[in-house]
Amino acid sequence: MISIAILGHGVVGSGVAEVLAGNADGIAAKAGDALRVKRILDLRTFPELPYADLFTTDFNEILQDEDIRIVVETMGGLRPAYDFVKACLLAGKSVVTSNKELVAAKGDELLAIARENNLNFLFEASVGGGIPILRPLDQCLAANRIREIAGILNGTTNFMLTKMIREGMSFDEALALAQSLGYAERDPSADVEGHDACRKICILASLAFGKHVYPQSVYTEGITAITEADVQYAAACGGVIKLIGRAVRTADGQVTCLVAPMILPGDHPLAGVSDVFNGVMVQGDSVGDVVFIGRGAGKLPTASAVVADVIDAARHLGARKHLFWEPAVDGYVADHTLAPTRMLLRFACADSAAARTQIAAAYGDVQYITVADAPADEVAFITPCMPEQALTEKAAALAGMTLTRRLRLF
Ligand code: HSE
Repeated sequence: MISIAILGHGVVGSGVAEVLAGNADGIAAKAGDALRVKRILDLRTFPELPYADLFTTDFNEILQDEDIRIVVETMGGLRPAYDFVKACLLAGKSVVTSNKELVAAKGDELLAIARENNLNFLFEASVGGGIPILRPLDQCLAANRIREIAGILNGTTNFMLTKMIREGMSFDEALALAQSLGYAERDPSADVEGHDACRKICILASLAFGKHVYPQSVYTEGITAITEADVQYAAACGGVIKLIGRAVRTADGQVTCLVAPMILPGDHPLAGVSDVFNGVMVQGDSVGDVVFIGRGAGKLPTASAVVADVIDAARHLGARKHLFWEPAVDGYVADHTLAPTRMLLRFACADSAAARTQIAAAYGDVQYITVADAPADEVAFITPCMPEQALTEKAAALAGMTLTRRLRLF
């Protein structure tokens, strides 16, 4: 019998308890031993639950219990999760977490502590919810030099964009529905402002490229500014708007990483990934493109990934898994504005003929895009591929024209 503790009985933590209890026999067979939840840390009590007697508000009861070998952290947030996880690893307990904020901020340090103590620190559920992505990236694709990872990494915003596009819901209606379904973070600004997706692309980039990419070094733009007009323009471009996290290894050993709404071509493998689904595309030098799709948020899909890690930790008590990356070095993350890109630019201008002359002089060949109901003074076009910095400087230099919107093309 292997004893486990769960820190945090919220959406994911309660799902973990449910899956462990519901599939106990099958899980025991796979883990090689029965798994018993011995303690659950939460400030709240749940007297209606059959396992109400397992709850404690005292973390030390778990930390000091040598019988507890695996701790599941599903509290979310950086503090006190970081202190608790670090203390558990230092006390000789393996840790499984779904907490992307924690892994994105402190993954290098916690992995090093786990390695020094011959323990496992596993976090499959921190990226892509129920999609197996970290283990395949680390193990199944190990033979490859990964060049690029791009993904729809936030279920809440993908769900919201889908509702806004297909059902004409307002931003607020779509967010309220996502929250009621348990998809959104406690603070939904982490979803809609792109920080959640940023943490996830940081974890993927750290694992794929070997050095920690910290969220503060990643340009991050969410979906709060997306309008109906953006949706129409994306369709007129033959694509669809998705919130994308993208990390690319550069030729000189740096990484370019950003999170932003982008227009994906309609035939791109991620363009059809809708609702709460996430999709991640990995490009390896031997395998080519590999795409992973599945439920990226929600109680049981996320618990599915957490419990798989618990089984793995139980099977490997005293034998560490390889999952690892190093701390970052200065200048590792390159300035994303120097990377070539294409954009859909929209300008307000009084004289559209004069505007087109200037646009041709500045950008060369462009593709003009029109939509019904556009303001009479609006001109919109897709730029050629050039560094974002150059695109922006040229836009600022156009006389009598005001840039009203820019959207990246994938
Ligand atoms: N709020 C997150 C999402 C939950 O919507 O993707 C899973 O990380």
